[in-house]
Amino acid sequence: MKYHKQLVNAKEIIAKAYKGKYAVGHFNINNLEWAKALLEAGQASNTPLILGVSEGANKYMGGFKTVAGMINGLLEDLKITIPVVLHLDHGQSVESCKNAIDAGFSSVMFDGSHLSFEDNIVKTKEVVAYAKKHNVSVEAEIGSIGGEEDGVIGNGEFGDPKEAKEIVALGIDFLAAGIGNIHGQYPENWKSLNFDVLKNINTAANKGLVLHGGSGIPQDQVKKAITLGISKINVNTELQLAFASATRKYIEAKKDLPENGKGFDPRKLLNPGFVAIKDTFNELTTWFGSKGKA
Ligand code: 13P
Repeated sequence: MKYHKQLVNAKEIIAKAYKGKYAVGHFNINNLEWAKALLEAGQASNTPLILGVSEGANKYMGGFKTVAGMINGLLEDLKITIPVVLHLDHGQSVESCKNAIDAGFSSVMFDGSHLSFEDNIVKTKEVVAYAKKHNVSVEAEIGSIGGEEDGVIGNGEFGDPKEAKEIVALGIDFLAAGIGNIHGQYPENWKSLNFDVLKNINTAANKGLVLHGGSGIPQDQVKKAITLGISKINVNTELQLAFASATRKYIEAKKDLPENGKGFDPRKLLNPGFVAIKDTFNELTTWFGSKGKA
């Protein structure tokens, strides 16, 4: 397969963001509409973009080859010139990471948070060795992110700065750490990210850090986290909510009913959600500080 040159690994854009104190948005995709909306919005605003694909979303779309093929096609057909990263989100095994790389993903996360730290190190090392051979960037995780992401459940344990240092030494490119963040919607009684933990991990890692569970964290906390080393922010739920709400409005207005015209055509029915994804991307990248930084 021929790969479009705009598909890049995330090393450079994350290193630049870490230095420049802003964060690149990682947005999870689910289908063609998601990918196209994000690529068009990124291109229109000259903003670097990481397209995240969870194992569940990958399965839903058909598999790594389908996803890589779709993204490479869109890069060419839409004449995308911004840097775009195709990233495996929460890869659950070394094999998954290798399969994603073989299919053309430019970045992978190995999520060893369900393993002992020793096993996490052994497997992350194996992923780094394979990724390096293919010029692919690697994200690792210490501690764990609370909540549920595509059936992967985490208890939410803080990352340990000593472990951060050790895992960074393997040659990873950016690091996810549990800092009180949660996948999905934040419960009413959730107070805050733990900035002391973040600060200590940042000092130990001295590398771009990743904030998972980026949906619904108050803006002031996101901005503070960026000053403490967060240079990639993962967002999934917020786009899903925006898409669902816009679609709901369309249907509640009965625009999909045949007696009201051709609004049942999926290209019309899915359009409000498509626009909502672009709007959410524009709003979030403005406060992440990455807008216009391509
Ligand atoms: P949210 O669904 O909470 O935005 O989390 C996304 C995420 O962290 C993907 O890795």
